[in-house]
Amino acid sequence: MANLNVTLNRLSLQNPILVASGTFGYARETAAFIDFSKLGGIIPKTVTPQPRAGNPPPRTIETSCGMLNSIGLDNDGIDYFIEKHLDYLLSLDCPIIANVAGHNAEEFKQLAEKLNAFPQLAAVELNISCPNVSGGVDFATNPELTQQVVSTFRNACDLPVIAKLTPNVTNVVEIAQAAADAGADAVTLINTLLGMAIDWKKRKPILGNVVGGLSGPAIKPVALRIVWQVASTVDIPVIGVGGIQSLDDVLEFLVAGASAVQIGTASFYNPGLAARLADELSTVLDEQNCESVSDIVGTLVLPEK
Ligand code: SIN
Repeated sequence: MANLNVTLNRLSLQNPILVASGTFGYARETAAFIDFSKLGGIIPKTVTPQPRAGNPPPRTIETSCGMLNSIGLDNDGIDYFIEKHLDYLLSLDCPIIANVAGHNAEEFKQLAEKLNAFPQLAAVELNISCPNVSGGVDFATNPELTQQVVSTFRNACDLPVIAKLTPNVTNVVEIAQAAADAGADAVTLINTLLGMAIDWKKRKPILGNVVGGLSGPAIKPVALRIVWQVASTVDIPVIGVGGIQSLDDVLEFLVAGASAVQIGTASFYNPGLAARLADELSTVLDEQNCESVSDIVGTLVLPEK
């Protein structure tokens, strides 16, 4: 059987299939539908230093081949997360990667110091790319801010650090390079694409926040392109996310250069999907004569010029 272990700098996972932040709650919600021990990792919903009420409703709408959300980082804050969710999460037979966001480097430092007390966490993913909150949480639109926030967090926390980046920029490679220069162990690509839905009869936007983040199969080609661009130019492991709903999708991301993947929107309609894909992956790798996942990562063959 092919070896499914993957190593992303300081982060080692038993397999490369994780569930994405914001699509899996704090795991209790999905416990009836999935065997957590089959997952490469669980990334719970983003937490911020203070509780946040999030954006006005409606906050989600289905689109063709995808979903728009404008949740606005609704959460109960880091202290509540530690008190009410972390024990449960850490009791699961699966690596847990906390996901955090802050308004400035100082808030990231506070988050880092609090999470540093939990070495049982596998890593922390920094959400520096949420498109739904105004006022400085989309640091990943700027390389200097990306570098500042990642290095601040890294200096205050011993856990492996993953930077989750946005596709809503002209040159994501320079942002990924900034995250790598700041000491990130990996980057997650991509967060949602900024979009909009309109009820033309009412002449109104459908989302309460007017705009929101597009996810699901509609964004897979964009995610693949960005994963490939970053993985082939920046020396940092990439975790691919965006529209994955089948084993073929997983393999496309691995061939494009992703060392691991996250299942996001698909978990809403099939919460057991990520575990099934992890089960099926070794069979396909065996058929491809791969001894380990790394044998297929980044194996894309480009046409000759
Ligand atoms: C949200 O809470 O608005 C979604 C999180 C994200 O897109 O980063």
